[in-house]
Amino acid sequence: MDDLVRIFDTTLRDGEQSPGFSMTPAEKLELARQLEALRVDVIEAGFPISSPGDLEAVRTVAREVREAVIAGLARANPKDVEAAVEALQPAARPRVHVFIATSPIHMEHKLRMTPDEVVAAAEAAVRQARQFTDDVEFSAEDASRSEVEFLCRIFDVAIRAGATTINVPDTVGYTTPPEYAALILTLRERIPAADKVTWSVHCHNDLGLAVANSMAAVAAGARQIECTINGIGERAGNASLEEIVMALRTRRDVFGVRTNIDTTKLYRTSRLLTAITGIAVQPNKAVVGENAFAHEAGIHQHGVLVNRATYEIMRPEDIGLPTNRLVLGKHSGRHAFRKALEDHGVHLDDAALARTFARFKALADRKKQVAIEDILALVDEEVRAAPQRFQLKAFQVSTGTGSPPAATVTLQSESGETTEAATGDGPVDALCVAVNRLTGVQAQLMDYAIRAVTGGTDALGEVTVRVREGETVAVGRFSSTDVLEASVRAYLDAINRLLVARDRGRSGEAAAHRGAAAWA
Ligand code: KIV
Ligand code: ZN
Repeated sequence: MDDLVRIFDTTLRDGEQSPGFSMTPAEKLELARQLEALRVDVIEAGFPISSPGDLEAVRTVAREVREAVIAGLARANPKDVEAAVEALQPAARPRVHVFIATSPIHMEHKLRMTPDEVVAAAEAAVRQARQFTDDVEFSAEDASRSEVEFLCRIFDVAIRAGATTINVPDTVGYTTPPEYAALILTLRERIPAADKVTWSVHCHNDLGLAVANSMAAVAAGARQIECTINGIGERAGNASLEEIVMALRTRRDVFGVRTNIDTTKLYRTSRLLTAITGIAVQPNKAVVGENAFAHEAGIHQHGVLVNRATYEIMRPEDIGLPTNRLVLGKHSGRHAFRKALEDHGVHLDDAALARTFARFKALADRKKQVAIEDILALVDEEVRAAPQRFQLKAFQVSTGTGSPPAATVTLQSESGETTEAATGDGPVDALCVAVNRLTGVQAQLMDYAIRAVTGGTDALGEVTVRVREGETVAVGRFSSTDVLEASVRAYLDAINRLLVARDRGRSGEAAAHRGAAAWA
């Protein structure tokens, strides 16, 4: 049997559709480029019928990303398939991904269709998609709670209609590893043309079993895994790409399979997603969490110093984790800077490189030792840069025990320079109030997080804020050795993104995201 497991990344579709993770078309493209550098086999770029913005984003990714297969999702009806085909027109390697629910509860209560109608819709949609491309995937939504007889019937029909990949989703994260493996084996045994298609799995993490279920399915013959960066996705998320890839690689002795993934790009990809969405992974997250390679206990530290293999089953460099802390200083030139970035899988165009280099030089003036983590924080900000209608010219803060915290902020916009002073509960509050007055945006600060990028009192402080105006939410981020400067700039970044969303009059795209209420 083929020993290649294809990695189908659905960060831009199943991941992006969950509250808080919405991305602008530009951000989707940036991430798609990184996914291609990571060498995923398939990028599911979106669900074109869901909004004109999503259709456009899929089209842009299809036009720009040429090596990976680009998939667009469609329900099993003519309009959805038409939208997917339209979005995928420019793709070098398009895939239409057709799905329909097959469990009794979904068919009866959600679709209100009989099983015969569901089979007919699946067949028609696969045939329609096949007129456009030879690469058609069919998914039976809620397969793990569907009757096996019915799955055999509908998959058989889908294969005869031309589906080349058959996906068996555990949509609600309900299955268990032995049960799921048995289902895959049964389907492969009972469907006559089973060996003509690629068997795929798509697991949600409601019981924390998404990765384990996917691995069990691989042992049972699945050769495509659908997953997301950092495990983002509906509810508890999807199976985490980095965990699956590293588990298959580290335990090749057990699974005997390989993937095409360049694992040294895993950390960077995880960071990029975090930078775009403003949502960090938990420190103890497997593979890419901050503590995944940290050894705190003395006995562990001793072991690792003597021989890393005592407590490390993977090496940090295998996932591209920066290990050489001090890399550059204020005398470092552009060439060394570019090289340091490339060593960490970052490729910026000339203009972006020039801007990031200028920020690095300014940082090196303030901070003697600039670590690669510092530089990557600046890169993260560069790649998610959005139009800045208001720019910070100056700010001043006074705070202490004797008087209320006060801030004065000067912003530059098309209409010139304006200055406002405000007081607040604290210096950050005072800065935000002044920015609200200057921009005319009545935003509410919902989340404020600060992280020291490296150790030491001169560490770069990375501030991430989440702001809300009405139903629109935006994430802003900025790093500086001065945490008040980082705060006001991060807040202003979020406000500028809110303004972009407001201008476009869109409720779920741009820098803001759908499902704002979920963060309330
Ligand atoms: O979870 C699910 O069933 C899905 C399908 C559309 C594949 O996301
Ligand atoms: Zn899903």
